[in-house]
Amino acid sequence: MRRPLVAGNWKMHGTRASVAELIEGLGQLALPVSVDVAVFPSSLHIAQVIGAFEGSAIVVGAQDCAQQPQQGALTGEVASSQLLDIGCSLVLVGHSERRLLLGEDDEVVCRKFAAALHEGLTPVLCVGETQQQREAGNTLEVVGRQLSAVVEQLGVAVFARAVVAYEPVWAIGTGLTATPQQAQDVHAAIRAQLAAEDAEVARGVRILYGGSVKAASAVELFGMPDIDGGLVGGASLNADEFGAICRAAGS
Ligand code: 13P
Repeated sequence: MRRPLVAGNWKMHGTRASVAELIEGLGQLALPVSVDVAVFPSSLHIAQVIGAFEGSAIVVGAQDCAQQPQQGALTGEVASSQLLDIGCSLVLVGHSERRLLLGEDDEVVCRKFAAALHEGLTPVLCVGETQQQREAGNTLEVVGRQLSAVVEQLGVAVFARAVVAYEPVWAIGTGLTATPQQAQDVHAAIRAQLAAEDAEVARGVRILYGGSVKAASAVELFGMPDIDGGLVGGASLNADEFGAICRAAGS
């Protein structure tokens, strides 16, 4: 059985004060023991959050890492080795906001994925189609291509040490959630694509859904056979709402 994972992507939100408040709220939650819970603060707040959650069940990840794992002369970037040193255990790679707004292509995403793995961090590979691509009937092709870019470069076995997040771009921050069936169809296709290479890896890999997940929609989404939890944006900035989403994954 795959253990559910609920991850909160805080994106470019937070001040020291608001992060302290969120930490306080999260600390008071009764989180289900059957669910893994992770948060991804901005890199400025990673140390603050890790310090606060030391000894707690909540693990901390980064929203991005450099393409090279080692430290070096690369102004503004953060190396996966530095993330490991500070206490991170996961890294998001290929989030659509970085692909579409910051021009990251599959090649860059692959290198970041490899840099994370090199340090023993768990990459969370984000994939998803735009509204235009869905309307043109290209969803599975687009998602399949984003996935196969990594499989071809790094081999399917890396997914034994990674997580996949399906995040339809049209559902991110829009309040439009994919229906449980729409999400399940894509999750099943992702798993089938991996299974064609390695059935055991495919059975074990966790595939999260992301895109306007709220407590109200989480139970049904997480009830689908290939949806193993969520990658939550906006709703993860509210401790109570995030807690309710975590509980939905445990029910
Ligand atoms: P929202 O939950 O705000 O739609 O964001 C989803 C997301 O992009 C998580 O990575």
